[in-house]
Amino acid sequence: MDNQNNIQANNDENISRRDAIKRIGAVAATAAVASVGTSALASCAEAAGVNINNLKVLLINGSARRNGNTFTLLSEIAAQLKKHSIESEIVGVGNRPVRGCVACGQCHAKGLGKCVFDDDVCNEIIAKMSECDAVVVGSPVYYGQPAGQVLSVVQRMCYAGGANMQGKPAAAVAVCRRGGATAAFQALQMPFQMLNMPIVTSQYWNIGYGAAEGEVSQDTEGLQTMRTLADNMAYMLKQFATGTAKFPEREKWQMMNFVR
Ligand SMILES: Cc1cc2nc3c(=O)[nH]c(=O)nc-3n(C[C@H](O)[C@H](O)[C@H](O)COP(=O)(O)O)c2cc1C
Repeated sequence: MDNQNNIQANNDENISRRDAIKRIGAVAATAAVASVGTSALASCAEAAGVNINNLKVLLINGSARRNGNTFTLLSEIAAQLKKHSIESEIVGVGNRPVRGCVACGQCHAKGLGKCVFDDDVCNEIIAKMSECDAVVVGSPVYYGQPAGQVLSVVQRMCYAGGANMQGKPAAAVAVCRRGGATAAFQALQMPFQMLNMPIVTSQYWNIGYGAAEGEVSQDTEGLQTMRTLADNMAYMLKQFATGTAKFPEREKWQMMNFVR
């Protein structure tokens, strides 16, 4: 299964957006040469036909409790993003049955750009991701790990829908009663690092503490960490949308398995 070839093919779907962003770069470069300065970059973006205030972040809630602590943390992020005029949407995936990846490879073999199984939330998430500029995935800690459903969704969306995710900023968030949050947090962001997704950080690891629903709202440092994460994500998104650097060309992936 040549995942990278498929990603390359599917990347074509994203070209219009990338072209638009490149156009911003060209206008911004002209502005810089004309000594207009960086403050003019937002209007450069507008001139190029891309509204940087039209940015959107997908917030995936991996908890079975729709309005639980994970939701509280993601809501804090959403509220802070809104202060930066960035839209977001929280989608719950933890309270419905979700398949795990069965490694059938049909998503790549058939160039589907989505999972061959269309009977759960996974393809809905992949479709939403194509409309979003960044993603945050949140989960409660179950036995020191992310919840099973959200882990399955993340694995399948990255494998089948990775073309929608390439290069987009990403972050993970975990909430626990007492322990295991850093392990769950790390597990959740691992797949993003294989998709050239810039990981957005905060002032601390993106974790919160609470047991009963909503209890995490008493973790004032945890909430502040979420707001800082949102600030950093907003900064990164706007820099990407207005910057002049060219998106890197990718080499063909040299896949070398250790067992031959
Ligand atoms: C099956 C299960 C396993 C859990 N395992 C842990 C754990 O390993 N460490 C911990 O601190 N809390 C654990 N918890 C508690 C939850 O992580 C905690 O209540 C969290 O706030 C739930 O988030 P939510 O409200 O978004 O669902 C567990 C809860 C459940 C239901």
